[in-house]
Amino acid sequence: MTSQSEELLSLIGTSAPIVSVRQEIDWAARCDTKVLITGESGVGKEIVARLIHAGSRRCDFPLVTVNCAALTETLLETELFGHVRGSFTGAFRDRTGVLEQAHRGTVFMDEVGETTPRMQGMLLRFLETGEIQRVGSERTDTRVNVRVIAATNRNLVEAVAGKRFREDLYYRLNVMQLHLPPLRGRMDDIPALLSHFLAHFAAHYDVANPVVSPDAMGVLTRYQWPGNVRELKNAAERLIVRSRNGRIDVTDLPVEQLRAGPELPSPAAPGHATADALYESLVTSGQSFWSVVYPPFMSRDITRDDLRFVVHKGLEHTAGSYRMLTERFNMPAHDCKRFLDFLRKHDCHVAFQQFRTTQSPAASR
Ligand SMILES: Nc1ncnc2c1ncn2[C@@H]1O[C@H](COP(=O)(O)OP(=O)(O)O)[C@@H](O)[C@H]1O
Ligand SMILES: [Mg+2]
Repeated sequence: MTSQSEELLSLIGTSAPIVSVRQEIDWAARCDTKVLITGESGVGKEIVARLIHAGSRRCDFPLVTVNCAALTETLLETELFGHVRGSFTGAFRDRTGVLEQAHRGTVFMDEVGETTPRMQGMLLRFLETGEIQRVGSERTDTRVNVRVIAATNRNLVEAVAGKRFREDLYYRLNVMQLHLPPLRGRMDDIPALLSHFLAHFAAHYDVANPVVSPDAMGVLTRYQWPGNVRELKNAAERLIVRSRNGRIDVTDLPVEQLRAGPELPSPAAPGHATADALYESLVTSGQSFWSVVYPPFMSRDITRDDLRFVVHKGLEHTAGSYRMLTERFNMPAHDCKRFLDFLRKHDCHVAFQQFRTTQSPAASR
């Protein structure tokens, strides 16, 4: 086994939540029920799904992952169910979908909370019957035996209440629920995770495993890790890549972690280095908001605060006009509503009224 797959399949941590998650993984591996894994992005939902599959009697059959947020509805439909030749332009031959490919194994449906109502209907039908109808086919093509493990970073109970997620599908998926708390809720795990990832990347880049100074360790274990384990893992990789003398001192740490330290700049004057750089590249590169800001936001590489900062900064220039902001962020005018819906959905809509009494857009240019 490579170090990559070993790393993928060990759940590090000894905090109470992780100990109980480990027990739940064992239990889930022994039975064959559907599992819904919940928790913020980067907490380890995918690794948990892999561990359940690896410990189950399906382990000799495939585990196939589908990221429901990454594909449009049409692409997701062919990805899952497959298609028949000629069903759309470019469908030159029949293709099996991942549900068929995972026969006797497991399908991991990541970000299931992002599916459209029509897709939710199709999933429900599949879960009820196990039948697959390929896109463009007139009849049921086959039946498969797959175990479905789904994950989401959304609160699906709220989504059901708000009619954005079908209640019947929610109950189908949620036979067993496994919740992974954010890393800031189990900070005892930070030192073990940190040494695990430092050792992993030191081996990977063929450098000595560095010694972390007590001060640096103090900063890293106090930091809240809004991007959870994924952020910590990325930070460890960066530290290894940059480490020169086999030691990690406070001065080697990235600014995000430093500014979170209590003795360093206060939260009243947050450093918005990332968001500032993002804003600059947005307004100077000519690239659209959807390609500059949206991807790092969805992958949690930037926070909601960063996004609000970018919007705030833009609105200062447009005197509170979202229509002009759409243009400033290099989106076509008809994207204005989509942009606003996106901001509202993620609670990042900034009230425009506060900008109205200040300068006019012309004056602030
Ligand atoms: N407890 C853990 N022990 C070891 N690695 C972990 C742990 N939690 C998360 N990771 C690693 O962190 C990264 C993000 O985890 P992932 O499972 O993809 O998160 P999520 O699916 O919740 O967004 C992955 O590389 C994963 O292997
Ligand atoms: Mg994930």
